[in-house]
Amino acid sequence: MGYGAMRLPGPGVWGPPGDRTEALAVLRRAVELGVRVIDTAWYYGLDVANELIAEALRPYPEDLVLVTKLGGARGDDGSWYGAVSDAELRAGCERDLRVLGLDSIPVVHLRWMGDQAAGGTSFAHALGTMLDLRAEGKVQRIGLSNVTLDQLEDALAVTDVASVSNQYGVGLRDDQPVLDRCTAAGIPYLPFFPLVAGGAGGVAGGAGGVAGDDPLATVAARHGLSRAQTALAWLLARSPVMLPIPGTSRVAHLEENIAAASVRLTGDDLALLGG
Ligand SMILES: NC(=O)c1ccc[n+]([C@@H]2O[C@H](COP(=O)([O-])OP(=O)(O)OC[C@H]3O[C@@H](n4cnc5c(N)ncnc54)[C@H](OP(=O)(O)O)[C@@H]3O)[C@@H](O)[C@H]2O)c1
Repeated sequence: MGYGAMRLPGPGVWGPPGDRTEALAVLRRAVELGVRVIDTAWYYGLDVANELIAEALRPYPEDLVLVTKLGGARGDDGSWYGAVSDAELRAGCERDLRVLGLDSIPVVHLRWMGDQAAGGTSFAHALGTMLDLRAEGKVQRIGLSNVTLDQLEDALAVTDVASVSNQYGVGLRDDQPVLDRCTAAGIPYLPFFPLVAGGAGGVAGGAGGVAGDDPLATVAARHGLSRAQTALAWLLARSPVMLPIPGTSRVAHLEENIAAASVRLTGDDLALLGG
């Protein structure tokens, strides 16, 4: 189980955290409980998630893999937009390095916001910039995020791919072909929004939820799990390359989510959840 730091900044992933002490405690507890992959981005905040990670965890454990992403940016009003020109990717990388206090980032995802948002920069060109950053030693390994199967294949033709982070969950499986390709190639797959969008109606139901025609709630109730834990256990059963990065700003939710790593759903459970 990994951890996603996007929920640490204030509302709308913007500004300081609501509870800074709790945010730092979440990060420290994650590492204490064995999390070794933390997903972040300079544009979570801005810089807020990275600052909290550096404050909570430096000096970093040697085996901690920080995963950042380049390709997005934020407007003054907190809006999100694509930023994949050479200058934008390079500036983002320098910002990650400076705020995280690293000489080299273990894994950086090229986050594709879509062709429309790319401002005329092709995916191949942006990937080329990432390869340059790796050649310069600023990035150790390159991953991809929000990519199509064709983009993954194009990337694999020119480089190894450390990981793929696309939207996927029990209630949202459009990305199955990319997951299948990652499974076949042994590429770690980090589903984003694993609870919010992929949890068949969200996880807000808490412990158990209401059973009946809600398969997630039914399976949760069978095992005394929360909906979030059930959605995470389903993900882990889905592929050996699955590496969920659930986001939370609360220690209690973090502990609950990490506990899902030891849940084993039965064949009946999986059938009820649609395989
Ligand atoms: N590559 C990309 O483009 C991309 C895009 C989006 C996200 N991401 C990454 O993926 C990570 C996961 O996505 P996400 O954080 O947006 O969504 P998520 O993990 O699907 O869900 C997080 C939301 O669920 C709540 N939550 C977490 N654990 C819970 C629990 N046990 N019970 C009830 N509610 C719970 C959180 O609120 P509380 O804070 O109250 O717990 C938060 O509102 C992000 O943190 C980010 O690092 C990457």
